[in-house]
Amino acid sequence: MSNKESWGTRVGLILAMAGNAVGLGNFLRFPVQAIQNGGGAFIIPYLVCFLLMGIPLLWIEWSIGRFGGNRGHHSTPFILDSLDKRSYWKYIGVFGIFTNLAIASYYCYIESWTMAYVYHSVAGTFNGLSQLQVADFFGKYVDIFKSTTGIPYEAVVFFVICLLLNTFILSRGLHGVEKAAKIGMPILIAFGAILAIRGLTLGTSGASPEHPTASAFDGLNFLWTPQFDSLINPKVWLAAAGQIFFTLSVGMGSIQCYASYLKTKDDVALNAVSAGFMNEFVEVVLGSSIVIPIAAGYLGLDWVKENAGFGMAFQTMPFLFEHWGPLLAAVAGVLWFGLLFFAGITSSLAMGTPWMGFMQDEYGWSREKGAWSFGTIVLLLGLPTVLFFNQGVFDEYDYWAGTVSLVVFALAETILFSWIFGMEKGWKEINAGADIRVPTIYRFIIKYITPALLLFVFLGSLFTPLGNDWAGGFSQLFAGNGWVLDNNSIVKQITNAGLREQIAAATDPTVISSLKDKLLYITGARILLLAVFIGIGVLVYKAKGNHSKIKTAI
Ligand code: TRP
Ligand code: TRP
Repeated sequence: MSNKESWGTRVGLILAMAGNAVGLGNFLRFPVQAIQNGGGAFIIPYLVCFLLMGIPLLWIEWSIGRFGGNRGHHSTPFILDSLDKRSYWKYIGVFGIFTNLAIASYYCYIESWTMAYVYHSVAGTFNGLSQLQVADFFGKYVDIFKSTTGIPYEAVVFFVICLLLNTFILSRGLHGVEKAAKIGMPILIAFGAILAIRGLTLGTSGASPEHPTASAFDGLNFLWTPQFDSLINPKVWLAAAGQIFFTLSVGMGSIQCYASYLKTKDDVALNAVSAGFMNEFVEVVLGSSIVIPIAAGYLGLDWVKENAGFGMAFQTMPFLFEHWGPLLAAVAGVLWFGLLFFAGITSSLAMGTPWMGFMQDEYGWSREKGAWSFGTIVLLLGLPTVLFFNQGVFDEYDYWAGTVSLVVFALAETILFSWIFGMEKGWKEINAGADIRVPTIYRFIIKYITPALLLFVFLGSLFTPLGNDWAGGFSQLFAGNGWVLDNNSIVKQITNAGLREQIAAATDPTVISSLKDKLLYITGARILLLAVFIGIGVLVYKAKGNHSKIKTAI
């Protein structure tokens, strides 16, 4: 993307932004988070976080993106730099490139599963397999070296195909991205609507002798019966906030990058809200009407609660589709995995743009060179997640890049925007060219509530109490027993406390050695991620020279 590029049409822009947000998170992560956090207990904190944190962050990111873009910057290091004279902001902006590269490295891997599963649905691989066998297929698929799924090294093959496709579209620049969104988003919504209708109408017709009480309604009721007592449980709030981050793609740098291709007079206020609401529609309406009700409809709500996890989409759905006969099962497989594929690719394209924008701005690279280098980096950084999936590398990337970094970066940019750049100027930026009147209350929210909420999320994740039990944690504290951290708190994660405890407690030598292996791979993954972060930091540092010349020229 050269500096001179801009979005073709407003519809294209909104679809691209919505495509950035609507992703695997809407269909895979949201239902799991909702189930694990008490269903109806999750929804209220989730919606509150959307209004008090999601929408404000969207406005902040869209407006600083447009602001930076009008000064010739298309990635967060120099977008942040343009908001304040202190030079450390551009290093904080490194997050906005790093996160995208690191997330892309495992995200494209999931995306490649969806391609493989479309293929296997059409090829009829799942026909006649038992529930266990379908689940087992996934296990074999990700176990590269022992894989017996039909194609040698299948997971690697599809991963490479997926990256080539992403790289090719990115090499066509903003127009490629816009076109992909214009084709992908309507297909996604159509496929999703068909499956959602099935989920909403399944009712109790899927009950069977093995699961006599199975009912899709149970799944829907569990999700949608509000439970107000959860409002005082920080655990649920943290999960809700985390999901809002992930699903809206805020705190990552990709929205700022997309917005930097807006023109000075283009609206941000309405566009940001439109893309945000489109994402919420897809997440809350479509995302909750497919996996949960269909699984509950055939296997019962208790099964869903026990097995809620990432694997449900791949390990269980193909089996459930078999209930509809071979032909419809193939059709449903194409709809479901095709939907996931389009959701995934419109997001992974967004992850490529900050890196490309940065190298074009600062090092004069062509967009082809930007795109191919992105593909290469993601291949190299992604291969460890593919090859050592079972050793925890994938989860390690998701934890540091897909969870922790977002919060850190969002907190930093919010402070920069509302306190350093200042709410006075900030409010003007949000309202410049606006096609709606932004409610004045948001001026207050963006200045006080959003940063406070972000700080709470950050501190809460840093110092999560034992068992994520906040009431218990505080009563222990007041009883003088101190604050006992959970192994999932960031502080404990840094030292791998949980894994070390497991190693110490294990007696079986093969278990010990596999846990020790895991520790080794996790450490390797961290070194790799850190190296990428530092590498981008060096590029930002070196870019300084070229840049100040351009800056003084303005
Ligand atoms: N929001 C996307 C989803 O719901 C995922 C995502 C995470 C993303 N990080 C991103 C998208 C960065 C674009 C850019 O699945
Ligand atoms: N650790 C993430 C989670 O529990 C993994 C994950 C689930 C994920 N669904 C995803 C990652 C969708 C990317 C996209 O939620």
